[in-house]
Amino acid sequence: MNTTTQTNEATTAKRQTAGAKVGIPPRRMDFTFADNTQRYWYKGSAFLTTFWTTLSAMFPEGETFFCDSVKNYRQRIQDPTLKAQVAGFIGQEAMHSKEHQAFNELAEKHGFPTGKLDRNVGWLLKIARRFTPKKFQLAVTVCLEHYTAILAEQLLREPSHQQNIEDDEARKLWMWHALEENEHKIVAYDVYNLVGGGYWLRTLTMLVVTLFFFAMVAIGHAQLLKADGKLLDIKGNLKGLWFLWSPRGLFPRLLPQYLDFFRPGFHPNDHDTVQLLEDWRQRLFNRQGMLAGKG
Ligand SMILES: [Fe+2]
Ligand SMILES: [Fe+2]
Repeated sequence: MNTTTQTNEATTAKRQTAGAKVGIPPRRMDFTFADNTQRYWYKGSAFLTTFWTTLSAMFPEGETFFCDSVKNYRQRIQDPTLKAQVAGFIGQEAMHSKEHQAFNELAEKHGFPTGKLDRNVGWLLKIARRFTPKKFQLAVTVCLEHYTAILAEQLLREPSHQQNIEDDEARKLWMWHALEENEHKIVAYDVYNLVGGGYWLRTLTMLVVTLFFFAMVAIGHAQLLKADGKLLDIKGNLKGLWFLWSPRGLFPRLLPQYLDFFRPGFHPNDHDTVQLLEDWRQRLFNRQGMLAGKG
């Protein structure tokens, strides 16, 4: 084992110990996605599979940005609990990046250009890192962490999502990620508050982030559909759009929680997920759990 590997191992171990104490344990995962994994693993739908794959493609660069924007303020944190929460947050996000990278490699093998999409996100975030204030970068993270937390909560609460993910390994990946997004949902927000981030920056950033988020997802999604030869599959795409955007669709169901972010005094813990997370920790990690023996 060389020195760099030893240092990385030691850092990971430190984050695991610190994070575990405050309920944000970075869990070591090692998903393996077989080459014969079902091509359209979400509901057998090309549109919906490429939608989720678009999100997955954006995670490695996106989550690295989240970590960096919090690390920028690490030296300002004195409270030992928040320090440990930050260590847990960084450890969890680092593991998400790694595992989604593996998932994205499988998607590449299926002909979905996830690497290209991730590079585009990286390019945009490089500009943000270089030309925007660090407080704004942290606000961007707070906003995107809110998105991931409410989307992840829907994945955890609604059995239909779990049934729609037709591949076992993919289901484990998404549910593990969803659980941890909610375990650490307060961290970036609390750091933002600690360093004096205010209401207007948070909410105005949310408007900017919403525009960019949907634009990036739409462009990325169209690229993956095009690569799959399904961009002009009108019937399949309309059906998929209905799933996402109809009055009872995925995004409209998120709207109340999304809007709650604009309430002065909002805190991510106002959305109570304590019991939900406890149930899912049991389902994933107890002796017969989906990920028994891990974590
Ligand atoms: Fe994550
Ligand atoms: Fe996160």
